[in-house]
Amino acid sequence: MDQDSDTTQPQPRPVNHVIVLFGATGDLARRKLLPGLFHLAKAGLLPQHYRIVGSAPTSEALSDEQFRTRARQAVAEFGRSRPEGPAWQEFEAALSFGAADQDASRALVAAVHEAEQAVGGTPRRLFHLAVPPVAFTSVIGLLGATGLAQDARVIVEKPFGTDLASARALNAAVHAVFDESRVFRIDHFLGKEAVDNILALRFANGLFEPLWNREHISHVQIDLPEQIDIQGRAHFFESTGTFRDMVVTHLFQLLGFVAMEPPVALEAQSLRDEQVKVFRSMRALNPAHAVRGQYTGYRAEPGVDPASDTETFVALRVDIDNWRWAGVPFHLRSGKALAEGRHVVTLGLREPVLRMFPLDARQAADGRANELVIDFTDPGSISARFLAKEPGPSMQLAVADMVFGYRSSFTTENSLEAYEHLILQAMLGDQSLFTRSDAIERLWEVSAPLLEAPPPVEWYAPGSWGPEAITSLVAPYQWHLPERGRPKDR
Ligand code: BG6
Repeated sequence: MDQDSDTTQPQPRPVNHVIVLFGATGDLARRKLLPGLFHLAKAGLLPQHYRIVGSAPTSEALSDEQFRTRARQAVAEFGRSRPEGPAWQEFEAALSFGAADQDASRALVAAVHEAEQAVGGTPRRLFHLAVPPVAFTSVIGLLGATGLAQDARVIVEKPFGTDLASARALNAAVHAVFDESRVFRIDHFLGKEAVDNILALRFANGLFEPLWNREHISHVQIDLPEQIDIQGRAHFFESTGTFRDMVVTHLFQLLGFVAMEPPVALEAQSLRDEQVKVFRSMRALNPAHAVRGQYTGYRAEPGVDPASDTETFVALRVDIDNWRWAGVPFHLRSGKALAEGRHVVTLGLREPVLRMFPLDARQAADGRANELVIDFTDPGSISARFLAKEPGPSMQLAVADMVFGYRSSFTTENSLEAYEHLILQAMLGDQSLFTRSDAIERLWEVSAPLLEAPPPVEWYAPGSWGPEAITSLVAPYQWHLPERGRPKDR
């Protein structure tokens, strides 16, 4: 068996590595990956000996020195700690660059071998493909043709295809070079603390899991509104849209964790088997149960087709036909230019069979007194909302919250950002939080009816919660957001 972590360390520390970053001159590397790698280095979570080789097409080739300068700028702008002191010097010295094109890979191969010699012994190779989809298969092909792929692991960025056929083709291209056990498809939402915490909440306590089924839960909402608009990414957005950007990826992955059966063990195969079982139980999406929206003004953004039908918003209902969830609607929503940026999962609990307490009109109409709310907008909270008696002579009920807040309960200084967490897991060889090829293909399969016959986009005003039709989509329930008069950041 591979030895992936140095067990003499108090916290998991990967064995020695050479990390190769394709797309090293791109936006993701600048905003997330280089700052994230430096944070891991500073936290003592990178291997004892490592090298990071940046790569990009020859037309964007950099010298080692230029790459270090870029990395320093990226960390200064987006990092949590400043690029200075001995920690930075050590990190910077570990950076080098090797350009590569499909038919000109010599510089990269030389840089990788040089880095391996500098590390000494036989370090693990980890390739991170932060490249646009068009470049994806050629980079994979290059890794196969040069022999660099041998015994290596690969981190693959979304999108994993645009439909079932393209996802199958992509998986076939990857599997021609990398065995599935060495493929780490990254969905950064699965690296957020709250996802691990959903597992803890459900499977470490006797309190919640007994309620986690159709007997006690009437509906579930997975809500990811974003306040930002497309931020100048017209080209990307026009060819992607919110369904492919957010739903088939982040929202469905979250749904897999919220809805899964208890895994046999907390390890990759069991977790991913349970996730795939949820996806297999998902009913094919019904276009009549989906609302596509576009914010007014989107068509006037530079680079957007003035007659664009691309959605900047989606809300939809998902049905899971298994014993645990039959008849329980899962409502999912995400969109750009909405009222607030939030990440909230809400489980609506069923009403007691008999209501013996008088409720005032607002509470009766609201119908949201019994809820479990997992808010993973950083730093995150979990609250149980219930009815309690108001102090006083009469039996008057009011809505109350029992709240666990990460910030007030724990120190969050050891927390890792999603990308940091996932890169570390990939170095440790743990695939628990990465998506398997059969999961990806199944998600595109259930999406086909919606992709083939999308309902027309409906307008919504920037700063709203989406088109009006979303109210009837969830009736008789209501969207948990916007919360009425309640504090957001606990
Ligand atoms: C990305 C999407 O995957 O996730 C973006 O491409 C989106 O459109 C982003 O804004 C949201 O991630 P987070 O972690 O900032 O909520």
